[in-house]
Amino acid sequence: MLSKKKVYVGFAADILHKGHINILKIASNLGDVTVGLLTDEAISTYKNLPYMNFNQRKSVLENIKFVKKVIPQNTLDYVENLKKIKPDYVVHGDDWKKGVQKNIRLRVIKVLKNWSGKLIEPKYTKNISSSIIKSNIKEIAFSASNRTSRLKRLMDAKKIVRFLEAHNALTGLIVENTKILKKNLYEEFDGMWSSSLTDSLSRGKPDNQTVDYSTRINGLNEILDVTKKPVIFDGDNGGRLEHLPFLVRTLERLGVSSLIIEDKKGLKKNSLFKKQSKSDQDSIKNFSKKIKTAKNSTISKDFLIIARVESFILNKGLKDALKRAEAYSKSGADAILIHSKEKNAKEIIDFSKKFKKSKYFIPMVAVPSTYSKTYEKNLYKNGFKIVIYANQLMRAAYPAMKRTAEIILKSGRAFESEKSIAGINQVINLIK
Ligand code: SPV
Ligand code: MG
Repeated sequence: MLSKKKVYVGFAADILHKGHINILKIASNLGDVTVGLLTDEAISTYKNLPYMNFNQRKSVLENIKFVKKVIPQNTLDYVENLKKIKPDYVVHGDDWKKGVQKNIRLRVIKVLKNWSGKLIEPKYTKNISSSIIKSNIKEIAFSASNRTSRLKRLMDAKKIVRFLEAHNALTGLIVENTKILKKNLYEEFDGMWSSSLTDSLSRGKPDNQTVDYSTRINGLNEILDVTKKPVIFDGDNGGRLEHLPFLVRTLERLGVSSLIIEDKKGLKKNSLFKKQSKSDQDSIKNFSKKIKTAKNSTISKDFLIIARVESFILNKGLKDALKRAEAYSKSGADAILIHSKEKNAKEIIDFSKKFKKSKYFIPMVAVPSTYSKTYEKNLYKNGFKIVIYANQLMRAAYPAMKRTAEIILKSGRAFESEKSIAGINQVINLIK
């Protein structure tokens, strides 16, 4: 008997629909089907993380009668798997002739030629796609626990995870929806930073906890109402130890992914002020207790407690920073935010080089506000896993609004401001 032909199908297969089944059916009529299932890592290079993780998606596919075998496809590119398997056929819907997968398709055709394999492209099933289904299943997208777990999954899947500050629902929507095409791949932000600084500024108050957690969480709720991406909450120093479990529980229940607390005590002062003379660092013992308390208050393992080391802010030096990072890691912190207000990244990179060698190493977070010339790729290369752009949307809005107010005063009418502001039509149609 002739051995069956080998057929390869590459899938992300988050939410299976009849379009997928159609492809698999055609493929299985040609021979034994191996599905190259895109890993979370591969998917995150061109679109949002799937709702189901790799193993969940694998187990669904393995139980479909048209599928013989499921293997991981670690990149969007098929070539590595195709060279291994040398299939007689690759089957893919004809929708990839355009868009981000166009070049990948050409590479598939080229590599198949080496063993006379063929690409079969059934007509794409119209009006059905995982993306359409997803936007219709709001309750999955908006569920709190799904949102909470996404930060951890992103950290596993991506080289570096990118957060941008959002201080109200509109800025939340900007973080949620801004997307650009760069080198044929989509780039977007992975989530929102709920900043004490911009939460305070947007209320015309100083960043010293005058704006209390309840007020900030009310504002955060409005962001959560209209977005799906994960949120990291800036918890200042976490407040009183006795109150911390309730803060953690509230945030986790809302679907926030992480709480960051900093090792300062007394009246809070923003870390970017040059003079920190009245700011005191907490003792390692006290702050470690806070981390343990916060960790013990979480319900799921996916809610992350990140410890923020302020040694560089308070001019305590590298040795102190390392000692603290190790102690906080031992106390159960999931990551370390090493903060700096220098103009370049030297001190945090020196820190990363040492901390990477420590047996207590945990992922690192950078906030490049003052050292904004530093590229993400440089942070990633030095072991940073999360980058937080902590205040840029607020800093963009403030001068634009002030300039507009001045132009109206100067002109005695609004006409002169029109060329630098959004059109009325644009604004009324912004949110439908
Ligand atoms: C914030 O955004 O509120 C922060 C970062 O905590 S920093 O302003 O640098 O202190
Ligand atoms: Mg802050």
